[in-house]
Amino acid sequence: MMTRRPFLHYSAHTGWMNDPNGFCFFNGKYHIFYQHNPYAPKWGQMHWGHAISDDLVSWKELPIALTPDRWYEDDPKGGCFSGSAIVIDGILYLYYTATAGGHQRQCVATSVDGAVFTKAEQNPILEAPPGFEDFRDPKVFYIETRLFMVIGASDQTEHVVFLYEGKNPYTWEERGVLYSVPQKVGTMPECPDFFPLGDKWVLVFSPIGENSHGVVAVIGTFDPDTCSFASESIQPLDYGSHYYAFQSTLGKDRERYAFAWAGQWPWMGHFVDHGPDTEGWRGFLNFPRKLRYADGRIHSYPAGGIKDLFTDSLIDRSLEPNGDLSLTSLGDVYLMSITYSSSFSLRFGSTHFVVDSSSHTATFTHQDRTSIAPLKGGLVEIFVDRMSTEIFFDGGYASICFNRYEDDAVTISNGTEPLELSVSGLPLHR
Ligand code: FRU
Repeated sequence: MMTRRPFLHYSAHTGWMNDPNGFCFFNGKYHIFYQHNPYAPKWGQMHWGHAISDDLVSWKELPIALTPDRWYEDDPKGGCFSGSAIVIDGILYLYYTATAGGHQRQCVATSVDGAVFTKAEQNPILEAPPGFEDFRDPKVFYIETRLFMVIGASDQTEHVVFLYEGKNPYTWEERGVLYSVPQKVGTMPECPDFFPLGDKWVLVFSPIGENSHGVVAVIGTFDPDTCSFASESIQPLDYGSHYYAFQSTLGKDRERYAFAWAGQWPWMGHFVDHGPDTEGWRGFLNFPRKLRYADGRIHSYPAGGIKDLFTDSLIDRSLEPNGDLSLTSLGDVYLMSITYSSSFSLRFGSTHFVVDSSSHTATFTHQDRTSIAPLKGGLVEIFVDRMSTEIFFDGGYASICFNRYEDDAVTISNGTEPLELSVSGLPLHR
């Protein structure tokens, strides 16, 4: 049996990984850190794994950046939880949640070279407000010269994102509740992120909850003088089963890029499939995406350079109206592009999706769960990388990520108009 480990997506060479942490561009390199248990292919006491890249396409794993070795992070079911990175006066700061004795507190570690990190003597630098047992995943950002931090929190009744302002990197003052999660969206907002995009501000988080989407974005306006966020609309950032714990950064081109974990927790009530534990690793990151705001929506699409890898044309043809096509020998890494003008459906083993050209929707059914993504219409691009499948509609208008183990054929059932199909592989991969 061939490995299920994705060829192009980032995964740690051994052990478990979940959320992307500390995504940043520092000293000429992209850095990604991640929740990591190096000792077993299952969740455990959390470390921060670390990798770097020149181009967001190929990644090199570095030694572990944070190991839970202090009293404030010694919870056996805790450690160094998720957080973010920021460059302040040429020094790289990692902000993270330390867990010990049932407390979640914010801590900081610094590095001058982006490889070796020193935990601050002042740690922990921020305690939870009274009653908030869940208080984690700090995301730090600048607005001009002011330093801010958002943190997800819950006291089991209220599920909120708090806003803090830093007097300096170690002293933080509460600026109130930035956002309160509506009941229909979910509960505790894990891994919040807050950033400007186009002329809007966007608050992104992963709500806990059976029927919630893995990552949702609230689009609105923000007034830094009053620290108030007025929400205007809300959208999932992916409609599939494996997209969680989004984190963004500004790239070297000053565009906004984001990573997410290709996973879900059991509380999502979806199929959980993080990777084969029999191979000694589990978990990987979805493709990094470039974000933009247009037509009242956030569009996200694999960072430039990823699509360009698929230069080896395998199929280029039309499919007759009402025709069926079963594709069996495409290999395990390919990009399938479909241009359509009438409804059609696609089946990957037991996973099924139907594109309805009249209602402009894609209905996705995976295991026992169905979700519906809105479309602009015309183009579907499907990136398959071994156990990862990422589907992008209309250049990033909506997307569906899911993981699968099945080797079954991909079957297309066409509607009333011809459909154009092309499939490309990686030249060096066959
Ligand atoms: C989200 C999360 C975070 C936490 C981390 C622990 O997936 O639950 O809230 O910091 O994972 O690994």
